[in-house]
Amino acid sequence: MSTLDFGYPCWLSYGHLAILAPALGALLIGRKLNWSKWLMIVLSVIAVWAMTAFLGVRAFDVNGQAAMPTQNFLRSGVGRVLDIGAGTGRSSIMVLKARPQTTLVALDLFGKSFDAHFGAGKSPQERLLSNLKIAGVDGRAAIVTADMSKLPFEAASFDAAVSAYAVDHLPRDTVGQALSEAARVLKPGGEFLLMLVSNDRYAKFAFGPMLTHGGTRGTAWWTGKIKDAGFQIVEEGTAPATMYFLMRRT
Ligand SMILES: C[S@@+](CC[C@H](N)C(=O)[O-])C[C@H]1O[C@@H](n2cnc3c(N)ncnc32)[C@H](O)[C@@H]1O
Repeated sequence: MSTLDFGYPCWLSYGHLAILAPALGALLIGRKLNWSKWLMIVLSVIAVWAMTAFLGVRAFDVNGQAAMPTQNFLRSGVGRVLDIGAGTGRSSIMVLKARPQTTLVALDLFGKSFDAHFGAGKSPQERLLSNLKIAGVDGRAAIVTADMSKLPFEAASFDAAVSAYAVDHLPRDTVGQALSEAARVLKPGGEFLLMLVSNDRYAKFAFGPMLTHGGTRGTAWWTGKIKDAGFQIVEEGTAPATMYFLMRRT
């Protein structure tokens, strides 16, 4: 039986093992050869850091199925949902599984940013479709190739939208346009769950500056952009390596 393959790079999930293994090996050798106390302390600190970071990253499980950061999104359980920057389907499957009465349009540009995250090669749309099929939700999903800054939909054509770790990949000066487009295609009162990479304490501990994205812009910056686009924030919060906003189109 096939398994889901979201295609995030291996180093995100297992990179710390490449540091842990040599550090443990060196500790063993050091014990045998009686290396200096200070060298052994430094090696121990590296090994403990790599182990702790690895276990935390496994808990986040970027290549596993995602859980919604809040159950307040789409409590009605029904409606047509737009996933903005769907990638290989992790966020689409998150919503379709959690809300089995919904249908969803998985939209992505499938361009350079997709290749940078998931690798070039096999058709991106086929990779997304394959994951939707494996998750058993393809019957409720459609795939659309388009730029999130210029959505190919009529105004007020969706009940809800989700976007995970995608809007924060846009250049700063195009974020407002993408959020305004999301507002345009949502019905009045429609909900939008926006998830962003947060360079929180844990992400800093595990990855240093390697996972910055929108996290560096801070909550106040995002709040301003969200309000300017015509949304009212109804909930905001954090999950591992994530900050999220649940908002309603005014
Ligand atoms: C980090 S991935 C997130 C994928 C998915 N939402 C998830 O949770 O795994 C970011 C996605 O945003 C897409 N993206 C970036 N810029 C875009 C744009 N202007 N229009 C549509 N999609 C875009 C990329 O192609 C990529 O698939």
